[in-house]
Amino acid sequence: MPEPLDQALAEVRELLLAPGLTRAVAAGRRRGHAPSVSRAQVRPVTLKSGRKLQIVTDDGSRPFTRNVDPGAEAAAAFDELLAEPFGNWHVETETSTVQVRITKKGDAQVHRAAATVAATAGPQAHDRAKQWLLDPGDPLFEVIGGNAAKRRQIDAFLRALAATLPDELPSPLRVVDLGCGNAYLTFAAYRYLAGRGAQVQVVGVDVREDQRVRNTAVAERLGCAADVSFVAGTIEEAALPFTPDLVLALHACDTATDQALARAVRWEAKWVLAAPCCHHDIAAQLKNVKTPFPYGETTRHAILRERFADVLTDSLRAALLRLHGYRVDVVEFIDSAHTPRNLLLRSRRTGAEPTAEQRTEYADLTAQWGVDPALAKMLAS
Ligand SMILES: C[S@@+](CC[C@H](N)C(=O)[O-])C[C@H]1O[C@@H](n2cnc3c(N)ncnc32)[C@H](O)[C@@H]1O
Repeated sequence: MPEPLDQALAEVRELLLAPGLTRAVAAGRRRGHAPSVSRAQVRPVTLKSGRKLQIVTDDGSRPFTRNVDPGAEAAAAFDELLAEPFGNWHVETETSTVQVRITKKGDAQVHRAAATVAATAGPQAHDRAKQWLLDPGDPLFEVIGGNAAKRRQIDAFLRALAATLPDELPSPLRVVDLGCGNAYLTFAAYRYLAGRGAQVQVVGVDVREDQRVRNTAVAERLGCAADVSFVAGTIEEAALPFTPDLVLALHACDTATDQALARAVRWEAKWVLAAPCCHHDIAAQLKNVKTPFPYGETTRHAILRERFADVLTDSLRAALLRLHGYRVDVVEFIDSAHTPRNLLLRSRRTGAEPTAEQRTEYADLTAQWGVDPALAKMLAS
């Protein structure tokens, strides 16, 4: 039910000034209006001079940070921000989360929830807040589980996601996590993206029905089942409730990563982040073909052949994505000390036609090595 905007913004103001505030984000724009900054973020910080409220605004070129006293100075700063025609406000306190989305008619759609999903627990020491995008002490993890290593991995993945997405997120933002397993990333991505003020819909796909049942129950416990749902099915064929803008795949086994990339291409997803897991497809093909001269040494020894197969697999994946209109970066999303599976293919759809040189390079590379990657077969079918 829409509510009067003044009333909703008064509620936001009260929460911003309350001592239990943990984080707030204003973003987006109202129909026909443009705020003077694309995004504003507020959080409490503890500095040598005491508790302050840190306001970070971004005008699209660079962030501007200031720390204000929680009293009159903060009230004046928040009044300025609340007067800006932002499209969304997302406010988290120790006890609740309030999301306000301003409708086309200028009313407010307000979503209020208990803090389980939303609040960032623990001290607000400046350093600690800086170290994590999603604090490992976040109560979210108490519900979804996951050990310290998994939390670090998820946080690193979210950082790569943050570096890929634009400052202003589309709203609604539709996300799929393919091969979601226990859905640590699914819930963490929802928590992070909703925290940036977008209206987020996430679906997790896994072939295992027991995972769907478990994850759905977790979503209900977290109070986010309306926005986070799960489907049991293969990455290739699972029926989704929407066409996603953002595709995530963290350690989907072997060619399940190729299935994820192929589906993302077919969906024309705007952003695709896939961290591959084991690589068997090209490794098996390399065993059965004659290595082109003079590269014999790279495949003669099992360990080198395996490592080279990993590199060739992900190079061909990147090349194929490029041929299908994506700009691709291959990066390490976390230090290899945390997981050896630390590569990430990070892609953004530009829709650009491939050049003749890119086509030839791909054709020559696969022909010389005598390989036909799983992803190419999937994209051709
Ligand atoms: C290594 S786990 C990773 C889980 C999760 N993404 C994470 O990082 O915590 C791989 C998951 O992918 C699922 N999976 C593998 N192949 C799949 C396929 N073709 N379709 C759907 N799910 C698949 C498995 O059931 C498993 O839960």
